[in-house]
Amino acid sequence: MAAGEPPRTVAARAEETRRPALVMQCIHENKLALCAALEAVADALPDGVCRAECLRIASLLVPLLRQAHAYEDDVIFPAFAAASADADPTIRRLRVEHVEDESFADEVTEILLAVGHGEPIGNAEAMGFMLRGLFETLRRHIAFEREHVLPAIVG
Ligand SMILES: [Fe+2]
Repeated sequence: MAAGEPPRTVAARAEETRRPALVMQCIHENKLALCAALEAVADALPDGVCRAECLRIASLLVPLLRQAHAYEDDVIFPAFAAASADADPTIRRLRVEHVEDESFADEVTEILLAVGHGEPIGNAEAMGFMLRGLFETLRRHIAFEREHVLPAIVG
């Protein structure tokens, strides 16, 4: 703290430092809520699926992931790189996972839209496999970021 700096300024600066981690935790919570929703759809296959819920998830999934990944690119990864000397390979790996996750989410969105608009569920096993593949991948990605990225940027 600079000599004579008002305590409120110090508190504001500490808050500013914590903000990216808080935003990221919020993003993780939103992603985990969607994972739980995807799991509920998978568990309800084939006869108990709520088509309106499929449409709801389809409308949120890709925009939420894009928003999360953009925030990580713009704010989180630079903070992580500044805080950790060996962050680069991890950031490269996470960026690859982001691209893969968005592509996977695009495919799942198409299926959810089709079901949501009343198309019959032709192959429930394949649909369940895809849904589970996506939410398990997303949960692993979040767990990794919570374990390795968040602690580093909080400092
Ligand atoms: Fe990420």
